[in-house]
Amino acid sequence: MRSLPLKTLFVFAFMGTLLVALMALQRDRLAAGYENVVSTVKSTAASAAEASKSLPLPGFANSEPTAPTDNYISICLAVKDQRLDLPEFLHHHYYNMGVGHFFIMDDGSQPPLSEMTEEELTIPRSAIEFHYFKPEKHVRWMQYTMYNTCAHIARNASTTTNTTWMAFIDADEFIDAPGPQTLREVLEDFDRIEAIGGVALNWRIHSSNGHLTRQPSAIAAYTECVYDDVEHNGNGTNNRHVKSIVKVNLFKQPRDPHSFYLTENHITVGENGDEVNSALRTPITRNRLALHHYALKSKAEYEEKMVRGSGMSNHKGWEVWDLYENTNPHEECTEMLRWAPKSS
Ligand SMILES: *[C@@H]1O[C@H](CO)[C@@H](O)[C@H](O)[C@H]1NC(C)=O
Ligand SMILES: *[C@@H]1O[C@H](CO)[C@@H](O)[C@H](O)[C@H]1NC(C)=O
Ligand SMILES: *[C@@H]1O[C@H](CO)[C@@H](O)[C@H](O)[C@H]1NC(C)=O
Repeated sequence: MRSLPLKTLFVFAFMGTLLVALMALQRDRLAAGYENVVSTVKSTAASAAEASKSLPLPGFANSEPTAPTDNYISICLAVKDQRLDLPEFLHHHYYNMGVGHFFIMDDGSQPPLSEMTEEELTIPRSAIEFHYFKPEKHVRWMQYTMYNTCAHIARNASTTTNTTWMAFIDADEFIDAPGPQTLREVLEDFDRIEAIGGVALNWRIHSSNGHLTRQPSAIAAYTECVYDDVEHNGNGTNNRHVKSIVKVNLFKQPRDPHSFYLTENHITVGENGDEVNSALRTPITRNRLALHHYALKSKAEYEEKMVRGSGMSNHKGWEVWDLYENTNPHEECTEMLRWAPKSS
């Protein structure tokens, strides 16, 4: 009779040890995968950086629009009333970046964005799913609610929508892959490394270029950016902020609008395989991936944006305008012009 509890204890102890060992093994396996990856990624990044130096600037390479053939990459967009901003955003990411599916989390737009016509949308409606959040359902930190919903919906639709990577960006943020690799190729590189669950892209913040009213194409109109403050390792510029592209099945929850908690020990890396643990990434590099942030656009649109506020319930004032427009030094940034409408 006495031996039974002892035996039970022993079994529990054994199971516990086994569990701890398994967890350690999993962590080591992830870490080992990461070490290998980082060195591979570093060498790929170095050759990509080298190759991108010799690329001809505007009006070249892969600017022929091609529709994606699957949903390997998707975008989760939390948006309100930006009906005029959506066409260029959708067109760029679908045709130029190979984003196959868009989760549009409509934060109570009037009228709902789902009423946009296919002509307005500029891409097949089948590539978009609209989810409408009624204005009376608006909560503080709405953006987090919408991001969690996106990931859950995508996981529930794992066999139909079947998306691997989900970018969490805003309607004024445009992804670019300026090196010789496409966005998909860069993500596929990281996909091979089990430890990696997210990729962080540095901002490139654009000024107003002196425009007072809405321009037909943001890509064509805004060709001046805020400096990277290389001298102080990015300390003086918000370009050190990132936004993330996350593997849907490893998504846990947002840490902030810029970065995400992932399951187990999975990590988020920058384009060089460097680990990123917050909303910031320095040194700022954009040889393989960039996130062009049309933060101001024209003065008139900035005024509209101040009124609209954001999914994070904070209303911007003129400080941000002053910082990007007047305080931060500017430099020319014309690399997005290769995606500009041919007519302009
Ligand atoms: C899902 O997509 C991945 C990569 O895009 C592909 O390899 C896989 O076969 C797809 N699965 C289904 C069920 O379609
Ligand atoms: C996903 O599926 C689960 C189980 O069927 C369900 O409980 C959950 O509400 C679904 N989530 C979403 C966002 O559809
Ligand atoms: C970064 O900038 C802030 C103010 O702009 C300054 O107080 C701080 O010392 C700087 N840090 C570094 C490391 O340069």
